[in-house]
Amino acid sequence: SAFRHEPNATPVEANERAKRLIDPGFGRVFTDHMAMIRYSDAKGWHDARITARAPLTIDPASSVLHYAQEIFEGMKAYRLADGGTALFRPEANARRFQDSARRLAMPELPEDLFIESVERLVKTDADWIPDSDGGALYLRPFMFASEVFLGVKPSSEYLYMVLASSVGAYFKGGAPTVSIWVSQQYTRAAQGGTGAAKCGGNYAASLLAQSEAIRNGCDQVVFLDAAERRWVEELGGMNIFFVFDDGSMATPALTGTILPGITRDSILTLARAQGIEVREEGYTIDQWRADAASGRLVEAFACGTAAVVTPIGTVASPEGRFTIGSGGPGALTMRMRDALVSIQRGTAPDANNWLHHL
Ligand code: PLP
Ligand code: COI
Repeated sequence: SAFRHEPNATPVEANERAKRLIDPGFGRVFTDHMAMIRYSDAKGWHDARITARAPLTIDPASSVLHYAQEIFEGMKAYRLADGGTALFRPEANARRFQDSARRLAMPELPEDLFIESVERLVKTDADWIPDSDGGALYLRPFMFASEVFLGVKPSSEYLYMVLASSVGAYFKGGAPTVSIWVSQQYTRAAQGGTGAAKCGGNYAASLLAQSEAIRNGCDQVVFLDAAERRWVEELGGMNIFFVFDDGSMATPALTGTILPGITRDSILTLARAQGIEVREEGYTIDQWRADAASGRLVEAFACGTAAVVTPIGTVASPEGRFTIGSGGPGALTMRMRDALVSIQRGTAPDANNWLHHL
């Protein structure tokens, strides 16, 4: 292919790398390389390369800095039990990246270029995959408007890049359960907006609500719908599932305002294969509170690439706080987590062909 390979002349030395991999946390440890592809209306996709990770020099009039025409993805490369390496459903990320691009009036990166950029970066920096339980190489493909122009219109030039970051658990100390804060003042997305796209602007808009969650002693914010302010949608960076006392599960339907999570889709598939009834339907905050009190709702969990499957222990809002089940990790939640992680780590059969072996 047309990818150039420009090795980093001064990679991080092995001892130092080992130190950084001991307790990497999330999103602060980066590898030696990055992938990069340019786009212009005139030339199309060109100048693909794997190159040393380094700061960019960009013109201050680059339109992304003014109008936020930017999208991204999040996925992981895992070390398998047999010593191999695999990506999890990268085709799904490639397609979602194309969906996000269309919504933000950006060019669609062909699926094979997306996959090749990620594959090459993971192979180049494979030494950065942590061996620890729960460790992985988090891949962050992203694309932004790089035309130097202050007029408001889709850019005629873009830069697509992939970063790789060695990660452990997203929540500090791999918290057994997390607490969530119901945002009453702020919403994340409205019908017709960008809620279903993975664009930076959605996250910028969520930060104030997330800060409010932290100020109220919670780990994450959960958003309600913008129209009626009562339907539970998703967390700042994760989808949500509910587990009921009859053994069934529910998750909000994809109505256009929430991100179609790949973890969400995988859990739907795994649960249904186990004979569990899972509904994709609306669930209100009032119903949630009532069901938690009556015992009809026994578990709730957040899910996403970064968070994997994380049990929700308590829910707080200006109206008060309620506990889910015993407040500890629920049995079905942990069973779903284990089913997913076992496939990702290569210790359970990959019946759906989700692993993309490198
Ligand atoms: N919802 C939001 C807002 C997210 O940022 C994420 C994380 O990517 C998800 C849901 C879960 O998506 P996925 O499972 O594809 O990582
Ligand atoms: C991911 O899980 O990939 C995300 O983008 C969510 C964010 C909390 C890091």
